[in-house]
Amino acid sequence: MTRQTLQTQVNQLPRARWAHIPTPLEELPNLSRQLGIRLLIKRDDCTGLALGGNKARQLEFSFGDALAQGADCVVHGAASQSNHCRQCAAAAAKLGLACFLVLRRDAYSTPVQGNLLLDYLLGAHVQLVDAAMGAELEQAKVQFGETLKAQGRKPYVFAGMRYTALSACAYVEGFIEILDQCDAQGVRPDALYVCSAGATGAGLALAAKALNAPFPVVSIAPIRWGYDTRERMAHIANMAAEFLGIATRLTAEDIHFTEDYVGEEYGKVTKECLEALKLMARQEGILLDPSYTSKAFAGLLDHVRSGRIAAGQTVIFLHTGGMPALFAYDKELEVF
Ligand SMILES: Cc1ncc(COP(=O)(O)O)c(C=O)c1O
Repeated sequence: MTRQTLQTQVNQLPRARWAHIPTPLEELPNLSRQLGIRLLIKRDDCTGLALGGNKARQLEFSFGDALAQGADCVVHGAASQSNHCRQCAAAAAKLGLACFLVLRRDAYSTPVQGNLLLDYLLGAHVQLVDAAMGAELEQAKVQFGETLKAQGRKPYVFAGMRYTALSACAYVEGFIEILDQCDAQGVRPDALYVCSAGATGAGLALAAKALNAPFPVVSIAPIRWGYDTRERMAHIANMAAEFLGIATRLTAEDIHFTEDYVGEEYGKVTKECLEALKLMARQEGILLDPSYTSKAFAGLLDHVRSGRIAAGQTVIFLHTGGMPALFAYDKELEVF
């Protein structure tokens, strides 16, 4: 399949527009010198929509779906420092839809800082709940959606697989964008690294297979789910393929994935992620975040040091954003 054919399929999906794309694909000269590889960064931290991140692309498709379904409000929820929820609140504000956020009460919900502060600023209706990430929080969102329906509202609830598969479609397009930029800039990547245990990695992997890309997408997980994540990512990719009307299908074997850099748990910093965060900041003047991109970049650094990325290879690191959380992690950052 050609990029153009794949892009035509993406273009058929209902969509809202706000992402500042294409985002730059930049060289990281100082880190390249230091690591002995050619390292580039894809700046999806610069997508706009209230401070950027991968969700700006994804929400174009989920909100496209919400509008097509006639929604008059949205319900989302995750950890208190969720980037998805912050950008969802921004998207809803832009479209004049009410945004209800069911957020986990956790170590980063008091004092109100970072993404949570921005949720309030963006006008979201926030409820903090004592629910674990995963099934419990999903249930809380669905239940809140039912309450709204009983009041005569038409909520679009960010729960289940549909919005996730549509989010993956955004990164099918993101992958095409990367390939186009590689051609224009004379870059021949040996690997693309990203922080993902879900839609972003699934969409990239789907596009890589559909387009027969000569390099792997390496997804580094920020979280350990209680199920086989490779299987689930392949499933997300296959649902996205159905939405796109393409024949490509993935199995778990198509997903290059590791949970080795999560550390103790999701959202808790590791020694290695702090090192990665400071290295990127001090060598390249680029900010990573404490829960996602710093862990993925720590994984990339470890792959260089262990030889899994060989000297002289060309690697692209996809920066998926998340920096507002830095302000909620002031104590953990140990920068003073
Ligand atoms: C900054 C950042 N990077 C990566 C991810 C992973 O995205 P996905 O679940 O689409 O794979 C998230 C998701 O919340 C995120 O906020």
